Amino acid sequence: MSEQPSAEHSVRAVLQRLESLRRAGVTHLRKAPAGAEPGAAPAALPAASIPESSSLPREPMPSKSAQKAKSPAAAFRVEALAEVERRVAGCTRCAELAASRTQTVFGVGNPNARLVFLGEAPGADEDRQGEPFVGRAGMLLTDIIEKGMKLRRSDVYICNILRCRPPENRTPLPVEAANCREYLDAQLAIIQPEFICCLGTVAAQNLLGVSTPIGQLRGRFLDYQGIKVICTYHPAYVLRNPAAKRHVWDDIQMLMAEMGLEVPKKSK
Ligand code: URA
Repeated sequence: MSEQPSAEHSVRAVLQRLESLRRAGVTHLRKAPAGAEPGAAPAALPAASIPESSSLPREPMPSKSAQKAKSPAAAFRVEALAEVERRVAGCTRCAELAASRTQTVFGVGNPNARLVFLGEAPGADEDRQGEPFVGRAGMLLTDIIEKGMKLRRSDVYICNILRCRPPENRTPLPVEAANCREYLDAQLAIIQPEFICCLGTVAAQNLLGVSTPIGQLRGRFLDYQGIKVICTYHPAYVLRNPAAKRHVWDDIQMLMAEMGLEVPKKSK
C-alpha cells in the first residue's frame, strides 16, 4: 500500500521545485495536466517561451472563489497553495494547538497578490470561520485596505505567523512559530509578493528574525529576501490605542507610494 507523503515532504517538494526552476531562470509555468498526481509540480515551459519578466506574471483575481485561474502561472499558484493548505489542515506539529483548534486558518486572498499582509495568529473569530482577520481587528484591517488604500480585500493576500489559534489568544511560542514557518515560506514562495506589510511585533520580529521593538521597525522599508517589507502596529493594538492610528496611516501611505498607488494629498 502506498503511503501518503508527510506534510514536510510535500511542502518541501513544492519549495524545492520552485527554487530549482527559479535558479534555472524559469519564470513561466504550465498547469499540471489533468490527472497528474496531486501536488506534482507543473512542467516548466521551454526556455524560448519564457517572458522577460523576473517573476511569474500577475493577473487580477476578483475574489477568493475565483480559483479558476486564467494564466498558467495563476493556475500554478492556486494549485500549489491548495496543496500546502491541505497539508496544513492535517498538521499536528504543535500538539497543544492541534488539540484546541476548531480548524486551521491558512490564508486568504489573491494568489497573484503584489502585497501580503502578515499577522500574528488566528483569534476566536478566525478559528471559528477559518479565515484570517475577520474579527474586530480584521474589520479595521479591511478598512485600511478598502477605505485607506482603495484596494479590495480580495486584491491582497492575508495570512499569519501561525495557522492555529493559541489558547486564550496567548502570544505564539517560538517553537510554534518555527513549526509553522515552513508553511509561511511556502505561501510566500508561491505568491512571490513584491511587498509584505507586517502587522505588529510578532509578525515583524518573526519574519525578519530580529528582536527590535516594533516602534523602531516601523516607518521605513526593510528587506526580506528581496521583498520590500513595511512594519506597522497591529490593528488590535490600534483598537486599544487609537493614538497609534496616525502612525499606521503614515506607514500605509509610505507603502502606497512605493507600490505606485495614489496617495491622498494631505489636507491643510
Ligand atoms: N489577529 C491576527 O494577528 N491574525 C488574525 O487572523 C486575526 C487577528
